[in-house]
Amino acid sequence: MPEEHTKAEHDREVTAAHGKRAAAIDPLGVGRTPLHFFVVAVLFFAGGAAALPFVTPAIAEYFYQATPLALTHSMTLGWITAGVMGVMYRYVPALTRRPIPFPRAAIVQCVIYTIGVSGIVAHFAIGVWFGIWLAAIVLIVAILIFAANMFSCLWPRVRDGVVETGMFLAVCFLLLAGSLGFTLALDKSYDFLGGSVLTNLASHVHLAAVGWVTMVIVAVSYRMLPAFLLPKLRLPRNAIWQIYALAAAVLGLAFALLFGLRGTPAWAILIVLALASYVATIAGMVRSRRMPLDWTTRHALTGLGWLGVSALLGIILSFTGAQGEAGARIASAYGFAGLLGFISNFIIGMSYQLFAGSVARARAGQGWIAVTIAELSKPRPRTLVFSAFNGGLAIAVAALLSGFVPAAVVGAAAIGVAGLIYSAVTLWTLSFAYRRAVPRAAKSALRAVPS
Ligand code: HEM
Repeated sequence: MPEEHTKAEHDREVTAAHGKRAAAIDPLGVGRTPLHFFVVAVLFFAGGAAALPFVTPAIAEYFYQATPLALTHSMTLGWITAGVMGVMYRYVPALTRRPIPFPRAAIVQCVIYTIGVSGIVAHFAIGVWFGIWLAAIVLIVAILIFAANMFSCLWPRVRDGVVETGMFLAVCFLLLAGSLGFTLALDKSYDFLGGSVLTNLASHVHLAAVGWVTMVIVAVSYRMLPAFLLPKLRLPRNAIWQIYALAAAVLGLAFALLFGLRGTPAWAILIVLALASYVATIAGMVRSRRMPLDWTTRHALTGLGWLGVSALLGIILSFTGAQGEAGARIASAYGFAGLLGFISNFIIGMSYQLFAGSVARARAGQGWIAVTIAELSKPRPRTLVFSAFNGGLAIAVAALLSGFVPAAVVGAAAIGVAGLIYSAVTLWTLSFAYRRAVPRAAKSALRAVPS
């Protein structure tokens, strides 16, 4: 009996010591939540990358079809949105110095979200609208949990903080885009909406891709790029106006498209001007940088180049519309340049620092042997990933614009190979958040133990 008592006490002491250490390392209680989202994101990216060359002929034929819709949402919801949710769970508590109010709900959210995305992708692929809007309801529940966690941290800093205001508005746009996506799917079953299918679709796409994803990338990069490039964090005062202008322009464009109003090119041009001002700010930081360029910054800068290509195609599309053969070709190329060129380059680049850093923190929180970002990284394939991804993209975009399908498939295959290599290496890095083992580089006898 006394022995049992001692053992129980010992267990309590160990748990308390573990809790104290975790609280000291992770005072905001973020835990492994961001990592769960990163794993989901990379798995969907791998699936999307593998499918890309097979779906590209359908995209080149016409973008609005079952398999392109499934692939688009595997990339936009599975890869991009899950990745961004992980980034926000990692950064928002640290930035606002407030803990997430419902940390357990965040894990439930990750599960519900994964089920919702799998459901929507599967039902898009088989073209069953009933399943699409049911899965959309599941997704909206997950997004509401996410919003509840984010809003309580971000709201007190809205208006004063550029990054926080951008993130807050971005989550509002995600809710809007998700609700409109659900309504569009429901309309296919009950036919209650007026307007044209293509302009309604374009309204959803812009709320999601510009209002949610681009807005959050602008906000996150205002936080991350100065940290990588400059010794001191400095943001110009006008940055908040870029955020407001972008939000107003996306809302204007989405309403004009949805209600068939005039003036879509004017809103499109306002979006481009707000983004041009953002690019000018970032370019200023790059010019005055003190640190050498690494793969994170290379991917981010190449992403900005693709943002320029997307902006040009977007403006042309606002004049031509996506009806007709030429419009449809531009729309497909626009999707590749925007979702893969701009957004995915940013996430890949950011992940090289952020994912390994999050794994190192998570291991420290668990009390496992500490490892460094360098030990958790395999830098060798990065050159191949960067060149195959961006080279393939350039070929695919040019081929989609000119309607030369075999070249588009070759480009898509190069993107697919880059995506699969990236995913394999990244999953290897992430796996160390879930097992005690250390990477081989951390086993050297001469290793300096990280504190
Ligand atoms: C809960 C979230 C979402 C739901 C429920 C949803 C739903 C839908 C639906 C139902 C359509 C087809 C609309 C129609 O046929 O009229 C669609 C198209 C599209 N969505 Fe989403 N969506 C969501 C999030 C996103 C996000 C985050 C993005 C981009 C970042 C996105 C990008 C697109 C694109 C590009 C298309 C057109 C694809 C094509 O025509 O091949 N969606 N979405």
